Amino acid sequence: MPHKTLIVGNWKMNKSLSQAVSFITAVAEPVAQYKKIEPIVCPPYPWLAVIDGLLRDSSLQLGAQDVSAFKNGAYTGQVSAEMLAPHCQYVIIGHSERRRLCQETPDQINDKIKRALEVKLQPIVCISNLSEVEALAPILPLTKHWVIAYEPLAAIGSGQATDPAQVKDMVHHIHRLVGKNTTVLYGGSVTPDNIAQYTTICQGALVGGASLDPQSFLQLCAQTDKAQ
Ligand code: PGA
Repeated sequence: MPHKTLIVGNWKMNKSLSQAVSFITAVAEPVAQYKKIEPIVCPPYPWLAVIDGLLRDSSLQLGAQDVSAFKNGAYTGQVSAEMLAPHCQYVIIGHSERRRLCQETPDQINDKIKRALEVKLQPIVCISNLSEVEALAPILPLTKHWVIAYEPLAAIGSGQATDPAQVKDMVHHIHRLVGKNTTVLYGGSVTPDNIAQYTTICQGALVGGASLDPQSFLQLCAQTDKAQ
C-alpha cells in the first residue's frame, strides 16, 4: 500500500492544452517540497502523453479518469489500459458521474479494474455507498493494494463536504470489507481549508473543483503535509 497520503486532482472535462501545460509548469517543481504526500493529477485523455513528457523529473504522478472495460480492438472511442500504462500510474474507475451519466454497471466497473490491474495501473475505485464496495467482492483477490475513494453523492461539487465523523465510520467499514491495508480517500467539496480534517482520518483525498487552480492544488498539498 502507498505509505504517503494521496492527493488526487480530478480535472474532469476541464482545461485546454495550454491551460494544462501552464498548470504543470506551475506545480511540477514546488510540489516536491511536500515529502509526506503523493501528488497525482488526472487530466483528460488527450493531454496525458503531453503532460507525461513534461513530468520526467517531477514527483507529480499521472492518472487517467477512466479506462475501457475491453482489451484493444474494435471499440470505437474507447481507450485501453494498455494505452494508458506507459503514461499513467493511476486510473480513476467508477466515478459517480460515470455510474450516473454513462450508466456504468458494477460488472463493467469490475472489468475496468481487471484491465487496469493486468497492466499494473493502480485503480482508484470510487464508491458512494457500501453496496458499491460489496460489488467488488468477486475481484478482491486480484490485488492487495486497493485504493478506494469514498465520495458521497451530495458532497460532490456542492460545497457541502461530508461530516468527518461519517467519513470515519465509512473508512472503518471499507477496511473491514476490503482489508486493513486499503488506502481510503475522501472526495466531495474538499478545499485547502477543510482537507486536513479528512487526511487525518483517511489516507488521502480526491479533489475536483479545488484541484484545478495550481495555487489551490499546492495549498491542498501543503495543508495535508503540515497535518501529517
Ligand atoms: P469536487 O469533486 O471536489 O468538485 O466536489 C470531487 C469529485 O467528483 O471527485
